[in-house]
Amino acid sequence: MLLHQITCAFFFLIITIVQCDNHFNIHGPFGKHHSIKNVPSPYGCNRTYGISFPSISLPSMNIMELNVSSTFYVSNQQIIVTWPTISLSCNDDFIGIYFIDIPLLTGACGYFDYEFIQTNQTSMSWQMINLRRPLEFRYYSREKNCAGNYSFVAKSTFVQPLNYNIPEQIHLAYSDRIDQMFVSYVTNSSEYIPECQYGLDPSLLQWHVQGTTITYKASDMCEGQANIPGPQTFIDPGYMHTIILEDIRPSTTYFYRVGNDQHGWSSVRSFTNRPADDINAKVTLIAYGDMGAAPVQPGAKSTMDRVRAQVMTNNITCVLHIGDISYARGIGALWDAFMTQIDPIASYVPYMVGIGNHEYDHVTGGDKDPSGAPGPGGFRPPWGDYGYDSGGECAVPMVRRFHSPSNGNGLFWYSFDVGPVHIVYYSTEHDFLPSSPQHAWLEHDLSSVNRSRTPWLIVGSHRPMYSSIVRDVGDSIKVMLQISLEPMFYKYHVDLNLFAHIHSYERSCPMYQGKCVDDGITHILIGMAGHNLDFDTYTGAKWSLYHDQQFGYTQISANRTYLRFTYHHNVDDAIIDEFELRK
Ligand SMILES: [Fe+2]
Repeated sequence: MLLHQITCAFFFLIITIVQCDNHFNIHGPFGKHHSIKNVPSPYGCNRTYGISFPSISLPSMNIMELNVSSTFYVSNQQIIVTWPTISLSCNDDFIGIYFIDIPLLTGACGYFDYEFIQTNQTSMSWQMINLRRPLEFRYYSREKNCAGNYSFVAKSTFVQPLNYNIPEQIHLAYSDRIDQMFVSYVTNSSEYIPECQYGLDPSLLQWHVQGTTITYKASDMCEGQANIPGPQTFIDPGYMHTIILEDIRPSTTYFYRVGNDQHGWSSVRSFTNRPADDINAKVTLIAYGDMGAAPVQPGAKSTMDRVRAQVMTNNITCVLHIGDISYARGIGALWDAFMTQIDPIASYVPYMVGIGNHEYDHVTGGDKDPSGAPGPGGFRPPWGDYGYDSGGECAVPMVRRFHSPSNGNGLFWYSFDVGPVHIVYYSTEHDFLPSSPQHAWLEHDLSSVNRSRTPWLIVGSHRPMYSSIVRDVGDSIKVMLQISLEPMFYKYHVDLNLFAHIHSYERSCPMYQGKCVDDGITHILIGMAGHNLDFDTYTGAKWSLYHDQQFGYTQISANRTYLRFTYHHNVDDAIIDEFELRK
């Protein structure tokens, strides 16, 4: 009752005015899905302007409190926020989640995520991610006419992680040698000695090894919103710890946990190392591109659910994610959301990433570009449509989090063996023309493959070399990839060329230069893993054997003589397209 009285009193007393227009964050790292229909506000918040009457201060009376179901949380926990009915609410009143030092009166637009309040609604559920600082929920309401400006109404007590330094975002990656494995995770502490305890029995983790710690600042990135600290731009990303396990055996299951005695340990996870190149080796890979974080990207959750089930039951060897990883684009909290999302998969199988336009593409600030590409914006030929798609990140958040073998150029191009398969990641965001360092490296790598050890050769990149959608006819990057790389791929008998960027599925016949040939390359578009689907019409090209526009993932199973590729719909896990190759 008291709460209700306070509510009524303060609904009119607190008259802080927030001017809102031009907003750039439609993404919801705390599980909220926003759409353009949410306009006018808080979609229209512009924190650059913020407030029109900053001289108004809070009354000295208590502020109405939003109740929370828990003041401590672990990642992915749901917190229920409740409040008394507010009869004069407007249909675009909202509850947002904030760092506690965002000003109450002037900070309405400074949320990480928000949800509009429906008429008579009195509770709301939030899926938490650990941003390593205290957070609070706030209720902002429009003025009496439900137009224009926002007034602060209520807030919750602080909510915070149960343990600020509990290892989060755990993920694995292959390193240079088959007897090595990267194990990486995040905590809040710079004064920290990362450690991994591991062994062959979950109850006896008898070996341990220590690792190293890195982080990054806003100024480490190239340009734009990535350089701007703020809840919808750069946030302190915490500290990324990486440990290299050495001398691990092939085809062997290890149990492990990460952390340390001072700050706490993760739960025990496990992985099975990749097989050596023995004659009986069999591997199963999962591959996709363009996923992003749920629920911002509508297919990400269903992909994660299906892949998680596969990883838990079907001896998956590793995951290939060929670009457009988190779609954070300078919004740091979305990296936390994405890395938290993949932890249940990536802490059990290596998660091998390739570079996409949404991680890398930038216009200025090239001296910060970790790929070392020359020029302020890297590869920007006049015939390409390379833009500002990373939000200024220029791959810095990606290379600080993920790892790869070091035989090429970091995460940008590299190769590795998985049983009978040699996998090569190349970058369509970097110079791939015949005169380029990447082209020379590809030639060297492909010419060095021992096809008796790894009979299957799979290459992967982000942008398509082939697509038969009508709007892609004449796409110059596609044409230049065909001119610059396809002859080399054909010469070295590449079996599969995987790519994404277009958000659908398409498979070619084995082909060369647009024609089906017996010894050709099978090109497969696998950009259907999460981002809004593209619904295109197709040209009817003869080489296009199958195309489809639903959310899904693909699986590649191979031994030395047989390769089976399957495309699964997320909705029912049914196999929608498949083919086999034999050696
Ligand atoms: Fe893309």
